[in-house]
Amino acid sequence: MNLLLMGLPGAGKGTQAEKISEKYKIPHISTGDMFRSAIKEGTELGIKAKSFMDQGALVPDEVTIGIVKERLSKDDCEKGFLLDGFPRTIAQAEALQTLLSELDQEIDHVLHVKVPEEKLVERLSGRRICPTCGRAYHVMYNPPEKEGICDRDGSALIQRDDDKPETVKNRLAINIEQSKPLLDFYDDKGYLVTLDGDQDIDKVFEDIQSVIEN
Ligand code: AP5
Repeated sequence: MNLLLMGLPGAGKGTQAEKISEKYKIPHISTGDMFRSAIKEGTELGIKAKSFMDQGALVPDEVTIGIVKERLSKDDCEKGFLLDGFPRTIAQAEALQTLLSELDQEIDHVLHVKVPEEKLVERLSGRRICPTCGRAYHVMYNPPEKEGICDRDGSALIQRDDDKPETVKNRLAINIEQSKPLLDFYDDKGYLVTLDGDQDIDKVFEDIQSVIEN
């Protein structure tokens, strides 16, 4: 099962990806997470990605396509994968088509989690993440059991650098502009399913399961 998860920043892609990956036993591949771990490790990729991410801009296509190609060729993707946050441009989408045909694979569904734009700022500003495992929480909508502490590993939660107000505005504007042609691209191919992301987290997951299982 090969799935793509699309949606604007804060739509809930990471939150749903964790559930999908656990239930359907497919690897969750998030380009954002890959860049964040490269930044943490101080690699060349991380240094490059940080300069774009800090401005809310997209990391250049050739860099992003390169890391996804490498990741999808790993053995754990043979039985399927869940791509979160990739592709984000038409060039990335076309590169993915080429790569999948080389691997003799196809996309099953493109799950588009849609949330009204005015709600996204609130979601992003209230998000806290675990620096160890990457799990996302929200101070109001999805709080940890103990305030400021990750339920899974006990680390102190932090705010992502690109969730600070000065970056969020630019990030949203760039992603809104890029998303329309991409949604059209997958709609034309018949892969696109749009889901209401402005519901309780578990309800969104129920809707995703019915798409996958029907
Ligand atoms: P990335 O990490 O992919 O960030 P994003 O797309 O901006 O998405 P987010 O992680 O912000 O949001 P999400 O949809 O995962 O929401 P979440 O589940 O956390 O990318 C970061 C950066 O990396 C990019 O800006 C770019 O620079 C670079 N990059 C990445 N991929 C790239 C690519 N392909 N090309 C070029 N550059 C790339 O939820 C958000 C909050 O809402 C949380 O607090 C959560 O608890 C809460 N929440 C979730 N669901 C609900 C719900 N149903 N109700 C209420 N609250 C909810």
